[in-house]
Parts: sequence; C-alpha cells; structure tokens
Amino acid sequence: MIEVKQLSKHYGNVVAIDNVSFTVDRGEILAFLGPNGAGKTTTMRILTCFMPATTGTARIAGFDIFDQPMEVKRRIGYLPENLPLYPEMTVWEYLTFVAEIKGLKGAAVKVATDSAVLKCSLGEVARRLISNISRGYRQRVGLAQALIHNPEVLILDEPTVGLDPKQIIEIRELIKGLSGEHTIILSTHILPEATAVCQKVVIINRGKVVAVDSQERLSAQIRKSEKVVIRVGRADSVSPEKILGIGGVLQCIPQTGGAFIIESELGCDNREAIARTVVENGWGLLEMKPLTLSLEEVFLQLTTQETTEEEKTS
Ligand SMILES: Nc1ncnc2c1ncn2[C@@H]1O[C@H](COP(=O)(O)OP(=O)(O)O)[C@@H](O)[C@H]1O
Ligand SMILES: [Mg+2]
Repeated sequence: MIEVKQLSKHYGNVVAIDNVSFTVDRGEILAFLGPNGAGKTTTMRILTCFMPATTGTARIAGFDIFDQPMEVKRRIGYLPENLPLYPEMTVWEYLTFVAEIKGLKGAAVKVATDSAVLKCSLGEVARRLISNISRGYRQRVGLAQALIHNPEVLILDEPTVGLDPKQIIEIRELIKGLSGEHTIILSTHILPEATAVCQKVVIINRGKVVAVDSQERLSAQIRKSEKVVIRVGRADSVSPEKILGIGGVLQCIPQTGGAFIIESELGCDNREAIARTVVENGWGLLEMKPLTLSLEEVFLQLTTQETTEEEKTS
C-alpha cells in the first residue's frame, strides 16, 4: 500500500532524512518512532506531497508521489503536527469546509461530515466553537478532517502529543479502530505508543532508519543470546554447575528472591531441559519465562549505538 524507497531530504547542509526505505501493507498501522529531530515530520511531509524529496521515490496505493501527486493526495488523509484548525468555526462548520475543499459536492458533503463526526465521536461538540472544546476533542477534529474524504491512507504526525493520559488512551483506541479500513502511518517519540497501537515499527534516528520490524522481531534482532528467568523455592540448593551442564547454557546469574537468569546461545531453546533439571533436582520450580527486551530497551540500544558510531567517525 505504501512503498518508500531511499528517500533523502537536505535542507541546505542539513541532512534531515537519509536513504529512508520501508513499506506498509494494506490495513496495517505502522509506527514511525524516533526522538525529536529524527526526521519523522520531514518524511511525512514528503509522503503527503507537501514538499519534494531531494532524492528517492515513494508510491502510495500504486501512485508515485512525484509524478501523480493529485492521485496521491486524493488517497491520503494527513494530520499535521500543528493542527490546521479555525477556532472561530464550529466543529461542524469546519468539517463541512474541509469536505468542500477536498472536492466533495452537494449531499456528499453532509454525508461525509456526518460520518467523520460519528467515527471520531464528535456528536456532543459538533455545534460548539473549536475555541471552546478541549485539546482531546480538538485532536479528534484533526483526525476527522484527515479522514473526511474517506482516504485509504492516514498519515498522523504525533497524534497524541499534548494530550492528558485519558485523552491519549481515547485517541489511541480511535486510531486502532480505524486500521483495517485505512492503512496508517503514525509518528511518535513515545515508545509505549508504538507498542500499544502498531503492528510494525520503523525506528528512525538522525534521519536514518535504524530498524524496521514487528515489535517482537525487533527485540530478537538485537538480542545477542537467549535469556530465561527462573524462580525457585529453594535457591540455596541450586547448583550452578548443573545448570551450566545443560546444552547451550552460557551463564547462570543469581538474582534476588530465588530468581536466576539463565543465558544460552542465540537460537538455542533449552527451556525443557532447564525445567527438567530444576524439577529433577528438587529445587522447587515456581516460575519460568523468557526475558525479552522491551521496545524501549531496543530503541535505546539502537539509537545509542548509532550515536556512538557517529561520534567515532566524526
Ligand atoms: N525547514 C527546515 N529547514 C532546515 N532544517 C530543517 C527544516 N525542517 C526540519 N529541519 C531539520 O531536519 C531534521 C528533521 O526534522 P523533523 O523532520 O522535523 O524531525 P522530527 O519530526 O522527527 O522531530 C532536524 O534536524 C530539523 O532541525
Ligand atoms: Mg516532528
């Protein structure tokens, strides 16, 4: 549905994005995750045909963003970083106005406005002035204007920024509900957002894509070993030698509360053997679970690695 190939954008000497590539399948939600200044907004502005890239190409629903910008714009709904709202209009007037700008005519304008109000749960505030509604509602109006012409693709630039925790949850739920019917790219600098809402994550740092994958696979990608945590009832009787004797085990690190982290070679699944050893020796197995990195750790590792490499070369 969305195919981004080697996009780069230079602002004078500043390289805002450098060779960015990724794809998004139909109906998927992709998180574009990176710290401030990473190049998220730049990429989104290029994909929505707001400005050209320096080099590279992208296709949206099969249309090239440079050769067929009108076709692309028709299929995209864009929620920019700064909401394009008119505070002196009511929600209804504003959405009607947007529907007309997007080329809808006659009865279609009302149908589209009604549908956007319904999808974004704006019924209660439809007749109120935009200046008088809460930040959370304003963000919904921003979403409503993005999807009013029922585009196949939604591009949402930091859609939860500046909202309170309750509003954040509401907007995330709303966005999740829009996937399937729409293909969505959402940018965020907040890690839990990527895990809460998206199937696929592209991590961008200093203009470069440093990882593209599903959340689980991202964790696996930078794992150097398999780690399992066990917790036993009789930690005193545990013999580390016996654990180290299990095939593939590299290390056994005692923790507090009867827990041990058992580290094994990458790709080695010896959980059955570990469980058997603990049970057969009567150490009292209470718990056993794989230790995976959270996206947060992955993000930090990838972005910090990138920084140190750059520092080394500069
Ligand atoms: N109009 C501009 N002129 C010069 N530099 C810019 C401009 N817009 C963005 N940049 C720079 O490009 C980089 C990426 O910015 P941006 O795409 O806004 O990142 P993000 O949205 O991830 O915070 C930053 O270093 C930023 O300072
Ligand atoms: Mg931005």
